[in-house]
Amino acid sequence: MSKNHSVTHKACSNIALIKYWGKLPIQLPMNPSLSLTLTNSLTQTTWEVSDGEFKIDVYFEDEINKSFQNKIQSWLDKLDSRFEFLKSYTHTIKTNNTFPHSTGIASSASAFAALSKCLASLYKLETDQDLEIEDLSHLARLGSGSACRSLLTGFSHWGYESQEYASPLKNVSDKFKKLNDAILIVSTEAKKVSSSVGHELMMNHRFKDQRVKTANYNFIRLKKAIFEGDFDIFSQVVEDEAMMLHALMMTSQPNFCLLHPNSLILIEKIKDYRLKNKVEMCFTLDAGPNIHLLYTEESKVDVENFLKTECKDLLVKDIIFDYGESSF
Ligand code: PMV
Repeated sequence: MSKNHSVTHKACSNIALIKYWGKLPIQLPMNPSLSLTLTNSLTQTTWEVSDGEFKIDVYFEDEINKSFQNKIQSWLDKLDSRFEFLKSYTHTIKTNNTFPHSTGIASSASAFAALSKCLASLYKLETDQDLEIEDLSHLARLGSGSACRSLLTGFSHWGYESQEYASPLKNVSDKFKKLNDAILIVSTEAKKVSSSVGHELMMNHRFKDQRVKTANYNFIRLKKAIFEGDFDIFSQVVEDEAMMLHALMMTSQPNFCLLHPNSLILIEKIKDYRLKNKVEMCFTLDAGPNIHLLYTEESKVDVENFLKTECKDLLVKDIIFDYGESSF
């Protein structure tokens, strides 16, 4: 590669059902995680290289973004010698998301997954060699742990078969082949705690051993529920993980409460409505106050009714409707 080139790729965000929370150097998970890659919530990235001094300019939504630039710079510093060739070029990276900020959709996952795909295309131009999907997932992981799962569609897991990269979850039952996710936004305030700080707080957390043990147990239970199409067990485990993530933050030193009063109201409403109407829906949360309401295709009409009649007044933005689809 010796003249100007530009590559563009898209990658979708994912929502963790078994949470990666706590890491070992470098970006290796303390426990296995399992997530659903979404479809509409994605990042599109264009990476331009031109001959010249080594320099990176990063634009996020058409504006220069220094903080993202620093993150990309430290990601590049972690790459192995195969990518030394990048140092002979000037780089301009332009990235956009289809979803708004601070809404409970992980942008670092889709961002580093899209960057890894671009990196693979640049590598191909330079060496005429392809990178395997595992390699791409590994590269994304070095930028943001959860990004390694965004290279795959549907359900994927990380830290069970391999610590280095994510793998697809196979044998998904028909019930879970398509799973819907309505994102209920109760606040758009910037995150109070970055995930890096959250992971660090786990290092000396008094419940660390119990957390790792429970995550392993929940992982096995969730995998089985997805294979068997058991929504009751699925929802028990997914909600346990969401509550535990927040409980761990509430009991770390220093402690953080990342929920909003309306998150709690919605959680109670979801549980009541499910009990009364036998609807296959459950909630999860990222490290913030917004709710991901997960539901099966069969429950779509009931859930839409629930959203219309019970939720609208508690939200500060339109609901984001997304879904994940598994082909295995
Ligand atoms: O990938 P990171 O370092 O942003 O951490 C992600 C942490 C959670 O989103 C809370 C859980 C997960 O597994 O995605």
